[in-house]
Amino acid sequence: MKNLKEQIIKLKKEKKAVILAHYYQEAAIQDVADYVGDSLGLSQEAMNVDADIIVFAGVHFMAETAKILNPDKKVILPDLKAGCSLAESCPPDLFKEFIDNHPDHIVITYVNCSAEIKALSDIVCTSSNAIKIVESIPKDVPIIFAPDKNLGKYIISKTGHDMLLWDGSCVVHEAFSLDKLIEVHKLHPNATIIAHPESETPILETASYIGSTAGMIDYVKTNSNDQFIVATEVGILHKMQQLVPDKTLIPAPAKEDNTCACSECGYMKMNTLQKLYDCLLNESPEINVSEEIRIKALIPIERMLELSK
Ligand code: 13P
Ligand code: SF4
Repeated sequence: MKNLKEQIIKLKKEKKAVILAHYYQEAAIQDVADYVGDSLGLSQEAMNVDADIIVFAGVHFMAETAKILNPDKKVILPDLKAGCSLAESCPPDLFKEFIDNHPDHIVITYVNCSAEIKALSDIVCTSSNAIKIVESIPKDVPIIFAPDKNLGKYIISKTGHDMLLWDGSCVVHEAFSLDKLIEVHKLHPNATIIAHPESETPILETASYIGSTAGMIDYVKTNSNDQFIVATEVGILHKMQQLVPDKTLIPAPAKEDNTCACSECGYMKMNTLQKLYDCLLNESPEINVSEEIRIKALIPIERMLELSK
């Protein structure tokens, strides 16, 4: 393992590559990355990187966003099959039909969607800026929000802006069990519950803080409490624990039928250190986006980045 990490670090220097990783990646991948962040931070970082190759250790839509922002750079992803249930829930042909049926609506899409869906959108958002983006639209303007209905419901509750929601969800955040969470909280009554807004409403109602992965990390760092129950993908605990070594972090429990006792994203975990090494060595698999789609998808992403300054 150590040897593989060293080889990756050596290879990335030789090839003038940077490794951008999401907080849900396995610990060893986060440790060799140049930058670890949430979806917004990763998009902002992708815009500013000085490198010939971006190795994106995350899921497909994240690497695609980096490519849309960096058409002249080579963007590679360790496993092309690393998708996302939200992105898969929203096929472009059905979404186009949905938009065409509501021509007076502004289309806001969560970044967890394909380049084709972004190309059909007016503004993109991430979980860190979704409320701000929706609040930038006058209340009397109708909005379509896709693909995450749970995030959509949360935004409606915070902004009071009614929105037409696409019926998509994250399989990982929907796997949290409210009953088990209450049990765990009884065992740790002083722990603060924090949750990602892709979780279902009953889970969010138990949380003292709701935010993006980066927001959750900041909250744990700055909050005076020393015990937290964390309702998001379990990979976040690696970076979080490094930043708050003396605090107790408890992963929120998942439903009985889940493959893991806590919540793990099978798509994120398709990337391994070995696949990261191989993809850097072979400069493949590469992410490509047709220029027609890229130009259309860039507009709503740039609007989001502008509104997030
Ligand atoms: P963040 O932007 O909060 O990191 O979320 C990404 C994601 O896929 C959550 O499931
Ligand atoms: Fe998609 Fe959910 Fe995995 Fe995030 S955790 S990448 S939203 S499936």
